[in-house]
Amino acid sequence: MASAVSTNPRFLNRVVLITGAARGMGRTHSLAFAHEGARLVLCDACRQYDSVPYPLAQPDELADLVHEIERLGRPVIAEQVDVTDLAAMQALADRALSELGPVDIVVANAGLYSFAPSWELSEAQWDETIAVCLKGVWITCKVCIPQMLPGRSGKIICIASTAAQKGMANLAHYVAAKHGVLGLVKTLAIELAPYNINVNAVSPTSIDTTMCRNQALYDVFAGGPGPLATHEHMLELMNQLNLFSDRDLLPPEAVSAAVLWLASDEARHITGSVLPVDAGYLTR
Ligand SMILES: NC(=O)c1ccc[n+]([C@@H]2O[C@H](COP(=O)([O-])OP(=O)(O)OC[C@H]3O[C@@H](n4cnc5c(N)ncnc54)[C@H](O)[C@@H]3O)[C@@H](O)[C@H]2O)c1
Repeated sequence: MASAVSTNPRFLNRVVLITGAARGMGRTHSLAFAHEGARLVLCDACRQYDSVPYPLAQPDELADLVHEIERLGRPVIAEQVDVTDLAAMQALADRALSELGPVDIVVANAGLYSFAPSWELSEAQWDETIAVCLKGVWITCKVCIPQMLPGRSGKIICIASTAAQKGMANLAHYVAAKHGVLGLVKTLAIELAPYNINVNAVSPTSIDTTMCRNQALYDVFAGGPGPLATHEHMLELMNQLNLFSDRDLLPPEAVSAAVLWLASDEARHITGSVLPVDAGYLTR
């Protein structure tokens, strides 16, 4: 990625709010918008959930991202906020409005999961995944939409998943939440069309972030811990699902490119849609 702001930035001074920004795709979305001239409002819970078997972000990762954006000369607000906390998210949106102006673009990206057959999921696993992946998306939209209505413009991009369109073993809570995200996106698209606000989803397949590069997931693909529980074995199975790939997970920047395009004027006629970034996985 270029180390300076683009000479022809698509999002100059647009206020972009991104959740789950400290690592993974949230980080690449944030940097991509910063390179295109945006002003950023970022949040991440920066804490580990007991039900999640791989590391989530730490506070220093959010701080590092802020420094990187500041080095690009772009304004940024970043707070350790949990997307399931309505009052805290409202306070963040209020701060964005008073310091940067109304939010123009929302990327509801924060997410997590855990793995077990449906009947073995704990109540905590179910509740936490549904809360972050579905309620958190609704809260993110709820606190930003009132800032978009008066200007009768805005873009909302919700990060779904190929799990929003397929059943997937060991992920009932996540699959249910991501299917719910598509229902929310379609409904918001109808409600917000009179205000010229576009609402769309992006459905990534397996992307090279910690969410996919962790031992707990390798164990699931191998049917349990053992010699086959490796990244290479998981890739071998995944590559039978994707139509083409680089024999590796897709780079997070591929999803950021889709997010920025949906947020751009070029996509102004698209709303209520789901854009897969899936190497053809959903066509099977
Ligand atoms: N990695 C994949 O293969 C993949 C595929 C499809 C969809 N997705 C979706 O993409 C989005 C980003 O995932 P990723 O791969 O970058 O994962 P990641 O684990 O690298 O990043 C997720 C970020 O969300 C943050 N987060 C978790 N709970 C939060 C909460 N309650 N409030 C605020 N922040 C919270 C984490 O701390 C982390 O920084 C998620 O919605 C995920 O479901 C990922």
